[in-house]
Amino acid sequence: MFKINDNYLKLPGSYLFSTIGKKVREYKAANPDRNVISLGIGDVTLPLAPTVIEAMHGAVDEMASADTFKGYAPDLGYEFLRQAIVDNDYKARGADIAIDEIFVSDGAKSDSGNIGDIFSVDNKIAVCDPVYPVYVDTNAMAGRTGDYIEAEQKWSNVIYMPCTAATNFAPEIPKETPDIIYLCFPNNPTGSTITKDELQKWVDYALKVGAVIIYDAAYEAYISEDDVPHSIYECEGAKACAIEIRSYSKNAGFTGTRLGYTVVPKELKSGETTLNSLWARRHGTKFNGAPYIIQKAGAAIYTEEGKKQTKEMVGYYMQNAKYIRDELAAAGYTVSGGVNAPYIWLKTPDNMTSWQFFDNLLENANVVGTPGSGFGPSGEGYFRLTAFGSHENTKEAIERIKRL
Ligand code: MLT
Repeated sequence: MFKINDNYLKLPGSYLFSTIGKKVREYKAANPDRNVISLGIGDVTLPLAPTVIEAMHGAVDEMASADTFKGYAPDLGYEFLRQAIVDNDYKARGADIAIDEIFVSDGAKSDSGNIGDIFSVDNKIAVCDPVYPVYVDTNAMAGRTGDYIEAEQKWSNVIYMPCTAATNFAPEIPKETPDIIYLCFPNNPTGSTITKDELQKWVDYALKVGAVIIYDAAYEAYISEDDVPHSIYECEGAKACAIEIRSYSKNAGFTGTRLGYTVVPKELKSGETTLNSLWARRHGTKFNGAPYIIQKAGAAIYTEEGKKQTKEMVGYYMQNAKYIRDELAAAGYTVSGGVNAPYIWLKTPDNMTSWQFFDNLLENANVVGTPGSGFGPSGEGYFRLTAFGSHENTKEAIERIKRL
């Protein structure tokens, strides 16, 4: 008789954004006349940049002709894209990353969920609290997190690093030593970030205790302040302790197109074994490459026009972020984030729980956001709004929230 992976049975409820999606669908079905505005899941709304579209059309045409047709992509991704990544995302920032340390994929969500494949189940993970739920849920699926303690909304075998107003929404070095540390800066969900000096402390710590950092830099394009690092490899020694995950979803609007990459430096080793060789083995065995058309589209982001157009997209969303932050602060809300990230983190009014505020907003303002407690126990009493809507919808949503 077959047996299932019963770690799945320990998972509480469904995936956060699936739960929200279901609630919103039910509300809309019951109230078809309401115009519901979503500032919930971090999904972009602007169309792809013209240069990106042009590159995609060109690649489609290549697929139509026998002499330019492409089948399976190379394991690690096409060289034209990996070279552009090395030159623009790393060399330009003083980080020396080799082309065979880049693994092109179908996005940061898959990579951050799959990276656990190359680590033993015996590793202890440390996560920020609140945190992007994929890191914890996928470790739970692998059997690395112990049991779920409902009353605490925590897993028994996970080190939680509270990121609260008292810590400026940044984690502190934990008392207990972890093996794997998940960091995401600029942060999802709080929109906070840390300086290069602060990140260097994490790198030094990881090197000292022999931990690996999984660094999610999906929101780096939103950084507006100078002392905030765009890559962990700007820190000294990071190549010996950190894996970096990047996405094209937020900087270039690829949420529906799917493209990202992960950097696994060859210096990163367990004994004599490089993590690069393990991830290459995993990637080659379980993944058949992002489509050629999409990789061509990704490479177009790095052209002069592509850079200009995607920067404009980021600028558009950051205008929303500023608007949300300023207007809600003026209305008396306690807000943070939104300066180096497309997320605004606000304290719920009148001591409402995060889910109470969610229901209140959905029913009385017809606006969808994300309850902070869905990201972890320290998110209770907080709420996340995204800046990824249109200007018009963002303005309308904030007006409605102010009228509550
Ligand atoms: C979010 O809303 O947290 C993100 O859109 C989720 C993701 O990028 O997968």
